[in-house]
Amino acid sequence: MSFMVNRVLIIGLGLIGGSLAKALKKKQFANVIVGYDRNSDDVQTGLDLSIIDEGSHHLADAVKVADIIVLAVPVKATEAVLFDLKPYLQAHTVITDVGSTKSNVIAAAQNVFGSIPCNFIPGHPIAGSEKSGVASADDTLFAKHKVILTPLPESDKSATSLIARMWQCTGAEVLQMDIERHDEVLAATSHLPHLLAFSLVDTLAKEQDSTEIFRYAAGGFRDFTRIAASDPTMWHDVCLANRQQILSQIDNFTDGLAVLREAIVKGDSQSMLGVFTRAKSAREHFSKMLSGTAYSQPHHNSQVTFFVRSAASLQGRIRVPGDKSMSHRAVMIGALAEGVTHLSGFLESEDSLATVQAFRDMGVVIEGPHQGRVKIYGVGLHGLYQPPGPLYLGNSGTSMRLLSGLLAGQSFDTELLGDESLSNRPMERVAEPLRKMGASISTSKNGGAPVSIKGHQKLFAIDYEMPVASAQVKSGLLLAGLYAKGETRIRQGAITRDHTERMLKNFGVELSTVNGVISMASGQTLKATNLDIPADISSAAFFIVAAAINPGSDLVIEQVGVNPSRSGILDIMKLMGADISLNNSTTHNGEPVADVHVRYSPLNGIVIPEKLVSVAIDEFPVILVAAAAANGVTCLTGVGELRYKESDRIEAMQQGLLRMGIDVVVKGDDIFITGGELRGASISSYDDHRITMAFAIAGTIAKEEVMIEACSHVATSFPEFVEVAQKAGIRIHKEKANVSS
Ligand code: S3P
Repeated sequence: MSFMVNRVLIIGLGLIGGSLAKALKKKQFANVIVGYDRNSDDVQTGLDLSIIDEGSHHLADAVKVADIIVLAVPVKATEAVLFDLKPYLQAHTVITDVGSTKSNVIAAAQNVFGSIPCNFIPGHPIAGSEKSGVASADDTLFAKHKVILTPLPESDKSATSLIARMWQCTGAEVLQMDIERHDEVLAATSHLPHLLAFSLVDTLAKEQDSTEIFRYAAGGFRDFTRIAASDPTMWHDVCLANRQQILSQIDNFTDGLAVLREAIVKGDSQSMLGVFTRAKSAREHFSKMLSGTAYSQPHHNSQVTFFVRSAASLQGRIRVPGDKSMSHRAVMIGALAEGVTHLSGFLESEDSLATVQAFRDMGVVIEGPHQGRVKIYGVGLHGLYQPPGPLYLGNSGTSMRLLSGLLAGQSFDTELLGDESLSNRPMERVAEPLRKMGASISTSKNGGAPVSIKGHQKLFAIDYEMPVASAQVKSGLLLAGLYAKGETRIRQGAITRDHTERMLKNFGVELSTVNGVISMASGQTLKATNLDIPADISSAAFFIVAAAINPGSDLVIEQVGVNPSRSGILDIMKLMGADISLNNSTTHNGEPVADVHVRYSPLNGIVIPEKLVSVAIDEFPVILVAAAAANGVTCLTGVGELRYKESDRIEAMQQGLLRMGIDVVVKGDDIFITGGELRGASISSYDDHRITMAFAIAGTIAKEEVMIEACSHVATSFPEFVEVAQKAGIRIHKEKANVSS
């Protein structure tokens, strides 16, 4: 059946009915918008304000010729109005309503018609205002708001889509739900908050010195109680109409409040902070969802372009943010420890925050980060809770691979999701050995995310020879090993970063590494500790190279982690002739740290020793920039792993450097770069943080300006890159890009 919209009849000209009429009239949804109200003054106001085309004083006449009838009356009046209009209703007429509860509307229709007419499509616009009456009608009231339709199985599909079209025409987003679900959701998200607001204001108003209280009640009170100015009769009706659901939400809330009360009585900081931090992050989470932006991708939807001009020289002292690998591990291991762990120097980037969020989702109380300080209330090896939904890990490979191992040993199921880049990265390399340990874990068709992990599996320690050099896989297996029966042994060919091993020892775990074989027995308890995370050598790398290639530079990067399993860049740069020295050497929780002092000196092309590949794995984008600035040819061989990072870094570097006029030859997994003069170009970031920053450094020695597109991913590891670069003397600025992603 198809419906021709000639006349829409709106019964009840209040705020909602009036606003709908006004919006439909403005958008010319029908030939005639007719208004009917028991109160003829409201009909007259509707006409005077041009909210309706025609006013009707006789319901029967208006009903007979209507194509759509919208009941915009109080929910309580639904039955009486349906009864009045029933005798005049035409077969083709579609009826809908705007009531904020739906079970009782359906009951009313049932009482009047005997069964629900297939042309009756219940609806509920989730919009309103404390104002009421037709004079306050606002044609934008529904724009960007949700309207929920609750058709029944027997409802006519074309009637449902007609009502959906009507609401879409007002700018609303239309959803469908079944009736019970609607009433349950609304009881929680609308009815309960309104009742709390009414009750709070009423309770305070009864206090003897209420005038005084209200005089000083500023922001919080005003924000929280705004909705207590809503229409009392309407809310009375809602309470009666949705009684059962509202009562169960009140009980739910009362229980929650009692828990908080108890925590306050006992001075139980962990419980109080648990409530507050969970609520805060949940609130931020749904604010993002409501504004239509994906959670954990806050920086990416406002894209930026970087512009770099040649630098004079880099001078002074700078600090770069905390180590990403250590920040992830500190949160994970701190959460599994017993007691409270304090971190300083934590990296506040998107990747490490994805890990924090994942543990919050699993019930761990985490305070901060605030200026690099984080407090983790460890829950012990068996204290995690099942998260309410999949864990979203954004761009972070480290979170996904390490968590795969850690979650394989839990007593609940989990699913790990990532962004597009992460979903295409290989996860079987960790899933496969975990299965050998007894884990039940599956990856997508292409071996990537989503990764689904089944809980309640008995894990057994394995003796595993690593086929690829990967600290993430090694760490995932060690974390699973904490839950596996027996002694886990991992044999590594190449050296990879050993932060997990060092950190586990900080938390009291006994573990040994002999000739590249790591051994760790299970059944150990982790004890909370305090950790000071040094600056990330992978972020320092950009400035090490920038200072090395810009004549006159003399730069100190303070307190950088120089763990030998990470410091390959220093060796490679020195082999190329860079002037680098380490001062103020110390250790932070077993991690070597030093100030890295770099002075300009001309570089020469070299054959990069393959044994340095795994200890400089993340630094190759910027090392290749150094190669482009060096005299002669640099050969980098056996770096196939670079194809599996946040982008195919071999391809990304080759394309970008070619555009800048550099001779780059790629043969399989080997790269040959002949140093030369770099020219200005527009470069693609490949949505990869390290590619972006490497080309920003290339821009410091280019003859003309370098423009790098889509740079917001630097927030993955180094959100304040541009500011630190400017401080060091790099002429870089960012501009908002004109994209509507
Ligand atoms: C990391 C290990 C490396 C590195 C990544 C961080 C870690 O990855 O590239 O940026 O924190 O363990 P692989 O283990 O895949 O080599």
